[in-house]
Amino acid sequence: MLKETAEIIKNAKFLTAFTGAGISVESGIPPFRGAGGLWERYDPSAIDIDFFYANPKESWREMKKIFFDSMGKAEPNIAHKTLAAWEKRGLLKGVITQNIDNLHQRAGSINVKEFHGTINYLICTGCGKRYHINEVDLKAELPSCKSCGAVLKPDFIFYGEGINPRVYQASAELAYATDVMIVVGTSGEVMPACALPLTAKRNGAKIIEINTLPSSYTAGVSDFYFEQKAGDFFKNIAKLLE
Ligand code: APR
Repeated sequence: MLKETAEIIKNAKFLTAFTGAGISVESGIPPFRGAGGLWERYDPSAIDIDFFYANPKESWREMKKIFFDSMGKAEPNIAHKTLAAWEKRGLLKGVITQNIDNLHQRAGSINVKEFHGTINYLICTGCGKRYHINEVDLKAELPSCKSCGAVLKPDFIFYGEGINPRVYQASAELAYATDVMIVVGTSGEVMPACALPLTAKRNGAKIIEINTLPSSYTAGVSDFYFEQKAGDFFKNIAKLLE
């Protein structure tokens, strides 16, 4: 199956990748769902938009534990690096990621659609000023705007928030143009992101899924399913595509 998959990837006219938290697990970032997942340990309401505005201090306290403490130390792994190398040599057209960890970009990927935003920036809830994470004192109980004093919100999508329309459009266009999509490390449970592989599939794309467990795509959407860690798959497939 690996050789056949390598041929399909090699001959793709518009290869894309759709990634979820599972691609970053081997970089030390826990997934959200499944054994040891973040939502087993923390309450997702911490990143509910209404909760955030009503209880900014509590939300910030939880967000630091859920996101900022673990993502700061993570490094891109072989899966991120292989996708970046494939883009560089013109094999991969782009990545649509649900992840906010910036690891695709740090691995060298250029065309990355961050469907759920990024941990790298924060937005002022008062004047809209945008800050890079390095400009903000995250030790403060309530990170606030230097211009207007209002509380800062991380620039990723909270529950109850809409997807950035430009990112949504660009991601949908990528999915629509795809003839081979590699779906890596996602449970496929969160709309509207999880509909993107379906858009590709409906438009005739081959779906190659890598996940350590079956997902909502495995039975009826994926054409190839590798029940293994992303790192192992990319280590093996990269050798066949050197
Ligand atoms: N290699 C490949 N897959 C893995 C690995 C690994 N090393 N480790 C875990 N997985 C798989 C799990 O089996 C699971 O199916 O990665 C998937 C992670 O699923 P989720 O934790 O649900 O993450 P994701 O699908 O990205 O969640 C989507 O939910 O909470 C929101 O906004 C958040 O972007 C996130 C969205």
